Amino acid sequence: MTGPELAEAGRLLAAARRPVVFTGAGMSAESGVPTFRDAQTGLWQRYDPQELATPAAFRADPALVWGWYEARRRGVRRALPNPGHRAVAAIQARLPETVVITQNVDDLHERGGVPAPVRLHGSLFAPRCSACARPAPLPSDLPPPAGTPVPGAPEARDEAEPPGGPVSHAPEPQDGPLTPPACAGCGAPVRPGVVWFGEALPSAALDAAVEAAAGCDLLLTVGTSALVHPAAEIPVVAARLGAPVVQVNPVPTPLDAICAVNLRGPAGEVLPALVRAAWPDADAG
Ligand code: APR
Repeated sequence: MTGPELAEAGRLLAAARRPVVFTGAGMSAESGVPTFRDAQTGLWQRYDPQELATPAAFRADPALVWGWYEARRRGVRRALPNPGHRAVAAIQARLPETVVITQNVDDLHERGGVPAPVRLHGSLFAPRCSACARPAPLPSDLPPPAGTPVPGAPEARDEAEPPGGPVSHAPEPQDGPLTPPACAGCGAPVRPGVVWFGEALPSAALDAAVEAAAGCDLLLTVGTSALVHPAAEIPVVAARLGAPVVQVNPVPTPLDAICAVNLRGPAGEVLPALVRAAWPDADAG
């Protein structure tokens, strides 16, 4: 990223009234949430995420897939928003018509100050029945096993609440396959509330994203490889209708060609610098 590129992107942002911020896994990388295409760790090393994130994988081995998503959810619960998330919130605070569209299934935008991002790929925090789609409680909302210390009870009173809010005091399950809970309505296995490969995107979210991209006057794309469709079309829609596209990514992507400015670098550094370039008085986190 050079000074002139940052200055040009800052000018585009300062002139915008209805920007869209479109984010992918790179947005949360500096928070310690691995991107989908990062190497997996621990016992998950021998599995390919693209093979676990499918309806067929869940049908074949619900405990393997549920256990993997529970491990990811616990990892996200421990992660904190990074300065990039806070810079996106600073943009929305300056420009209230900003629409944030994310492919991420973590909750770091919300915890970073963006209350309602458009979620194209669902959420780790919204499990539902795999048969009847009835929303299911998160495992940490289920009553703890007998004998588990209860928050607020005398023995737990001195414990400081961790950043990100209260967590279950139930012991964390072992990392590994985990039988999913049964739906309270029909008894079928509960599944993660995310969009798997081969599944349709939630139509309300996709419609909202396309409408925002079509009506925006700047699209800022951050930390996405732009390889997974249809989400990857969102910046293309904006560019086709004449909005400048600014990209933040340490490496080139298929979107480079449609971008007015490519800011090569990590989101946690580039986004605060971009906010300061647009509004020198800003508190960019
Ligand atoms: N800052 C900005 N970008 C980064 C950073 C960082 N610190 N670290 C990595 N990146 C970039 C990578 O260079 C890569 O281009 O983030 C991108 C991550 O790409 P993917 O892992 O493919 O993530 P994403 O584009 O969000 O994937 C889209 O595919 O795996 C499915 O459903 C999943 O939502 C996901 C979708």
